[in-house]
Amino acid sequence: MKRKILVCFGTRPEAIKMCSLVHHLKISNFEIKVCVTAQHREMLDQVLDFFEVIPDFDLNIMKPNQTLNELCGRIFSKFDIVLDEFKPDIVLVHGDTSTSSICALASFHRGVKVAHVEAGLRTYNKFSPFPEELNRQITGRIADFHFAPTITSENNLLSENVSKESITVTGNTVIDSLLWTVEKLKSGYTNDKINDIKSFVDFSKKIILVTGHRRENFGEGFLNICKSLSHIANHNDVEIVFPVHLNPNVQEPVMRLLSEHKNIHLIDPLDYPSFVWIMSKSYLIITDSGGVQEEAPSLGKPVLVMRDTTERPEAVDAGTVKLVGTDFEKITNATNELLSDDLAYQNMAKQHNPYGDGNANNRILEFLNQKL
Ligand code: UD1
Ligand code: UDP
Repeated sequence: MKRKILVCFGTRPEAIKMCSLVHHLKISNFEIKVCVTAQHREMLDQVLDFFEVIPDFDLNIMKPNQTLNELCGRIFSKFDIVLDEFKPDIVLVHGDTSTSSICALASFHRGVKVAHVEAGLRTYNKFSPFPEELNRQITGRIADFHFAPTITSENNLLSENVSKESITVTGNTVIDSLLWTVEKLKSGYTNDKINDIKSFVDFSKKIILVTGHRRENFGEGFLNICKSLSHIANHNDVEIVFPVHLNPNVQEPVMRLLSEHKNIHLIDPLDYPSFVWIMSKSYLIITDSGGVQEEAPSLGKPVLVMRDTTERPEAVDAGTVKLVGTDFEKITNATNELLSDDLAYQNMAKQHNPYGDGNANNRILEFLNQKL
């Protein structure tokens, strides 16, 4: 009988990082089913469409402006039914979302093994990122197998007494997805969104791409971010492109404070290939995203990270990513420096990626073949 693997995810970034793995696993000897919690709805569906993954179970739990406890409660009760029906031998979860920690805990309650993709990243500050740092630690405590993207993340797990035999260093699956998408774009892939962006963004100017969504930045953090972007927009040789996350706590301040600027383009969240395309056209990226910090170094794009801590220190150490927090002065000064100082720009624009080589999916499959 084939061993049964249930792959679970619910948000946009998890989907980007898990869909290429799903395709990989489907050509193995395991029976693979996909369960999406749909903690995100539209932003998840964009990714499922692009990667042509059709979930076997869709819990459809997203509600507008959901609180963490409502969200976790809905995942717990609905995911339990899937575990009961499919009876997997092992559940694969990803990263640091509520979907990952709750699906891991629910699996543990039913005696089902858990494998954690993107394991071992740490800030050791439970409020930053919030609630992700603790979500990832909880999933790490529960997991039987750990797919650590880097040596640093493996070392974090070893220092917590996780056994070496249960860990394997794989690289991050986001690079597998990114490289596949870059190749697709190189071979001529385009879509309506890309053509639409070409019609209103002036690409003869320097493109600054912005994203933001972290809960710890809601309120004052986002007000500072908007103030900095308004200031940066005074440079008449830049175009700011900002696909605005659908979280109402992001939408409200961004739309209120930035919609009047001629060279700030506030747009809907982009489908993945359009986002990769605009990253590749950008001069600089300003973000609080985890995934974007991992992708941008492959494209040789400097990243200013609007956070005080990062569980992804490798690119900071390599000099291609800089932490600027949500401080008005720091964001504005770091951006001005990169716009005016060519040497400072070239130092950050090195094409070097510590997060993976595009073979993470292979390594995960190999390890599962050995262990199951
Ligand atoms: C979630 C994850 C975070 C991850 C981020 C990626 C948790 C606690 N948070 O944060 O770790 O970095 O996703 O983007 O797991 N919404 C929509 N449509 C969508 C998606 C979101 O309308 O497709 C709105 C809804 O009002 C929803 C709200 O955004 O209630 C918040 O979604 P939620 O998943 O709770 O939090 P995120 O900030 O997206
Ligand atoms: N992304 C996307 N469309 C967008 C913005 C981001 O497809 O409009 C992709 C991006 O390439 C990366 C991921 O979404 O792979 C990051 O998601 P997000 O910032 O929401 O979450 P995080 O990575 O911080 O958990």
